[in-house]
Amino acid sequence: MASVKANSLAAQLLRTGQVVAIPTETVYGLAADATNPAAVQRIFEAKGRPQDNPLIVHIAGQEMLAQVVAAWPPAAKRLADAFWPGPLTLVLPRAGGIAPAVGAGLATVGVRMPAHPVALDIIARAGVPLAAPSANRSGRPSPTTAAHVLQDMAGRIPLVVDGGNSPVGVESTVVSLAGKPTVLRPGFVTPAELSEALGQEVALAPSVQGPAEESGPVESPGVKYRHYAPKAKLTLVEGPLPAFAAFVAVKSTETPGVYAMCFTGEEKTLAVPAVPYGAEDDPKTQAAGLFAALRQLDEAGAQQVYARMPAGGGVGLAVRNRLLRAAQFRVESET
Ligand code: TXA
Ligand code: MG
Repeated sequence: MASVKANSLAAQLLRTGQVVAIPTETVYGLAADATNPAAVQRIFEAKGRPQDNPLIVHIAGQEMLAQVVAAWPPAAKRLADAFWPGPLTLVLPRAGGIAPAVGAGLATVGVRMPAHPVALDIIARAGVPLAAPSANRSGRPSPTTAAHVLQDMAGRIPLVVDGGNSPVGVESTVVSLAGKPTVLRPGFVTPAELSEALGQEVALAPSVQGPAEESGPVESPGVKYRHYAPKAKLTLVEGPLPAFAAFVAVKSTETPGVYAMCFTGEEKTLAVPAVPYGAEDDPKTQAAGLFAALRQLDEAGAQQVYARMPAGGGVGLAVRNRLLRAAQFRVESET
């Protein structure tokens, strides 16, 4: 687990331009000094990340904001006061001191103050804002434990700081304040909570619910890439449990390596091996368990996974968004 010694070693490596994996409350991040272009480049290399996908910058206190953003409109202050430290990223005009590669060609930057004591301590010790995407190899499910980070990053980075399980389990809500407040990526902070704090409705980018347009302008470049995907082929199944159980039973007679991803307690009613990802009526537990379940299915050698479709309300919007992308929008309806 993280210790003062581990945190100060992390800060030392970060100050010398190295990449370090750190825990946050959402998922583990692959951090580097956001003001150092060579350090930022190392993130893209370690992750295998396309250069046109921008990184989120993490701060330990609002006094660091001046180094990161070139504007701080009233809407930003409202949302930061309501949700920071916490799982909310604000997209704003970028300050000159941030390495341009962080913005991946955009004039903006995503910034957040994470609600994890280890992350906050490491940022404060490093003394610089840290660029940090999720600490998975590009395209893989995001890591919610130090062990997940090692599965993807062993031999590629010098240090993973272990801060235990990431309690939220899905990445931060990304809200653009560059124009009309718009959710670019759903997360733990819901559109209803954002609208209430802002005193105005937030818009939802089309990519929140459906596939990103191949053509046309992309508001959040990250959404167009293959994401969160296990090695197994994943398909979501809409419909009640008895229909799901019948469906997977038939599928398992047709193809080998069929697994189910189900809600807690459903395993025993299914004729195929199953990994639960959370309680049917509690999307927060689904968010917390989602990525670990996807990795567990790979470990088990699953070739074809059928997953129960979550209801989309509240945090469920984020769970649905991640599962749809992991499944590359393959959905079957069974009634
Ligand atoms: O919870 C999180 O946000 C985690 C932890 C480590 O903090 N980080 C994370 O980073 O999820 P990443 O790189 O996996 O996702 C960043 C997302 C992408 O969808 C990217 O396109 C979007 O944020 N993003 C970053 N900067 C942006 C910008 N300037 N404009 C629009 N979208 C941006
Ligand atoms: Mg990511």
